[in-house]
Amino acid sequence: MTHHGTSAATTPTTPVSVVGLGPMGLVLAEVLLAKGHPTTVWNRTEERASGLVAQGARLAGSITDAVSASPVTLMCLNTYDTMYEVFAPAHDALRGRALVNLNSGTPQEVHAAVAWASERGAGYLDGAIMVPPPLVGRPDAVFLYSGDRAVFDEYRAPLASLGDPRFIGTDPALAVLYNTALLHMMFASVNGFLQASALVGSAGVSAADFSKLALDWFTPTVVDPMLARYAPALDEADYPGELGTLVMNANALEHITRASAEQGVHTDLPRLMHEVAERAIRQGYGEHNYLAVYEVFKQASPTS
Ligand SMILES: NC(=O)c1ccc[n+]([C@@H]2O[C@H](COP(=O)([O-])OP(=O)(O)OC[C@H]3O[C@@H](n4cnc5c(N)ncnc54)[C@H](OP(=O)(O)O)[C@@H]3O)[C@@H](O)[C@H]2O)c1
Repeated sequence: MTHHGTSAATTPTTPVSVVGLGPMGLVLAEVLLAKGHPTTVWNRTEERASGLVAQGARLAGSITDAVSASPVTLMCLNTYDTMYEVFAPAHDALRGRALVNLNSGTPQEVHAAVAWASERGAGYLDGAIMVPPPLVGRPDAVFLYSGDRAVFDEYRAPLASLGDPRFIGTDPALAVLYNTALLHMMFASVNGFLQASALVGSAGVSAADFSKLALDWFTPTVVDPMLARYAPALDEADYPGELGTLVMNANALEHITRASAEQGVHTDLPRLMHEVAERAIRQGYGEHNYLAVYEVFKQASPTS
């Protein structure tokens, strides 16, 4: 059998194996079971499967058993290196099977994994889960996939059991790249909020009080007029500065850095943002709007 299998493989009850039962893998397997997929599971720490077995999952005796039990194996491990370690004994069993990799990693790790799967004759789709575990299984839970379209099409039904599967391109690294980009956005925004809370916290303001005001302020004042308004112009490198210039904003970043120092809170984050803004000014974008800093982010970091 090839990994393209028969049409029976695309029925809503395709057997699925799940490898990796951390907080996310556990939920993937639970949802697949609840939606009627015969589900085989494997985890290094076998005890984590006990609840799933009680719900009807079959615990594989080995990784080879897990791969052989289903036409498609979803993996949800911590890293790509763990994948190689875990699947090493299943070398021959992988031929003609499909693997869907939901580990997080980097584009180069994805390309290496594609070659690894191809050497073993396995179909391979890379993916990224864009929701936390409690949202898995909802129809609006976004899962991104990229790479082999045939694998995506063939197993769309089990993938749709987990949420809203979106195929974003045949470059296999795209799902991981979107994932890391969106996570970066999450960390940058959350860290900005935490730095802001520490700054007002230095004057005795509780994070609870501050967060109410800050979260109400954020979308109408930052997301809508700045990001939503100017983001479509980024591709044209069009940064009109008529409502405020980069020089004005770099001045604000200098104030944030100095106020943080005065108030005895950490200065690394605002100092770094100030440095990036100054770099964009040196490159000639001072009279453009703040989003011209994008020109700096597109460049490789200078090697010092
Ligand atoms: N949790 C989330 O909110 C979330 C959201 C989106 C995406 N994800 C992604 O989903 C993936 C899994 O995340 P997670 O939260 O379930 O937890 P995790 O800590 O990233 O991964 C735990 C899994 O990796 C296994 N593992 C770790 N080292 C291993 C090794 N050396 N050999 C064999 N197995 C090993 C663990 O096995 P043991 O049980 O034996 O330790 C467990 O099955 C990650 O790539 C993560 O980025 C997670």
